[in-house]
Amino acid sequence: MSTPGLAPRRAAVQLLDAVLEEGQLLSDLLPKAVDHLPPDERARAGRLAATTLRWMDRADRILGPYLTKRPPPTILNVLRLGAVEMCVDGAAAHGVVNSSVEIARAGKHTQRLSGLVNAVLRKVAADGPEKWATLPAPQMPKWLRKPLIADYTKATVMAMELAHSRGAPLDLTVKSDAKGWAEKLNGTVLDTGSVRLKGSAQVSALEGFEEGEWWVQDAAAALPAKLLNAKPGERVLDLCAAPGGKTMQLAAVGADVTSLDSSAPRMERLSQNLERTRLTAKTVVADVLNYEDAPFDAILLDAPCTATGTIRRHPDLPYAKNSDGFPALFRVQEKMLDRALRLLKPGGRLVFCTCSLLFDEGEEQVKDVLARHARLRVDRAAGGIANLPRGWAVQGGLRTRPDYWSEQGGMDGFFMTLLRKPA
Ligand SMILES: C[S@@+](CC[C@H](N)C(=O)[O-])C[C@H]1O[C@@H](n2cnc3c(N)ncnc32)[C@H](O)[C@@H]1O
Repeated sequence: MSTPGLAPRRAAVQLLDAVLEEGQLLSDLLPKAVDHLPPDERARAGRLAATTLRWMDRADRILGPYLTKRPPPTILNVLRLGAVEMCVDGAAAHGVVNSSVEIARAGKHTQRLSGLVNAVLRKVAADGPEKWATLPAPQMPKWLRKPLIADYTKATVMAMELAHSRGAPLDLTVKSDAKGWAEKLNGTVLDTGSVRLKGSAQVSALEGFEEGEWWVQDAAAALPAKLLNAKPGERVLDLCAAPGGKTMQLAAVGADVTSLDSSAPRMERLSQNLERTRLTAKTVVADVLNYEDAPFDAILLDAPCTATGTIRRHPDLPYAKNSDGFPALFRVQEKMLDRALRLLKPGGRLVFCTCSLLFDEGEEQVKDVLARHARLRVDRAAGGIANLPRGWAVQGGLRTRPDYWSEQGGMDGFFMTLLRKPA
């Protein structure tokens, strides 16, 4: 019989190999990569891989002194997982060491290093957990850390890194009665109106899910639709809409919503979300850059971006990606902004947002769009967000960061702006 917990650990190492060596995202790999496992082990494999990525920088600092040279990737990932299990999860050393050795032994190219795995992890078991607590928060890889330090400061980036290591709570946007749902689900109502749950939960098993009374949406991700402040009956276009968090917000206030995204499978999820929440929107699968329609009163553009504001939830992102495609992505955002302005009626409102921490995808895009369109204005008066902390207002819009509200569990990094087209 094999060591208990071996299968999810083995799957976690395969996930780590795919993220770190092939640049694949966990969200693309799961659940398919683990569908050979029973449901509880699937969840465990995903959790182990995500926790290892979240703490990888610290795991490498723990392992470094025990390694004379860098081992092959799979062996290094076995060691990282083992170190994180013992130092973060407090897993018993014998189970971790036995499984790790067994994973190494089973591979043709890794079996000769099973002795190394055994020796290193025994050393980590002896003094790793104590050392662990003395190390700084895991740093982001240089390709991302450097531009962020240039945009913010080193101290702010370190605060963000601490927030990334803490992970993220579960936030819900409710159709109505936030206080009532917070009480029922053992959560709290945040100042911006989202309901934040304490502890983790299986979302589909929670009260109100089947009835579609709420949907999962980070507190910061809920702000752009509030900023647009759509009115009942207004003709509103949600661009880059899937899987539909913002569409549902707009539909819930009674706007006449058209929801567009170029991904058919993601739009399928949006339709399912609308069905569950009993909300309506016209759905369109199309490329923003080719879309033509009669002008809209208001538009929300949640442009594709580096998603660097969501690292708390997606610790794989800094490792699966690098900055190669950035300039092309920034140009797409620029073109989408110009197209959205064409689709807007004179005097209409446009919210542009990205879940990015990079100024290039927020503050700089606003500067540039204002320079390209002489009479376009940032509208500071019309936004519909109450109780907004003053520090979040920046040149050209609103900026949220993972280290904001840290004592309440943080929030995703977002940039958003409300633009007013000349009448
Ligand atoms: C940040 S996600 C949108 C999240 C969504 N607004 C929500 O609140 O649930 C960006 C979306 O842009 C879509 N997208 C990327 N390029 C596009 C294009 N050229 N035209 C339309 N949609 C596009 C992607 O399919 C993806 O669903």
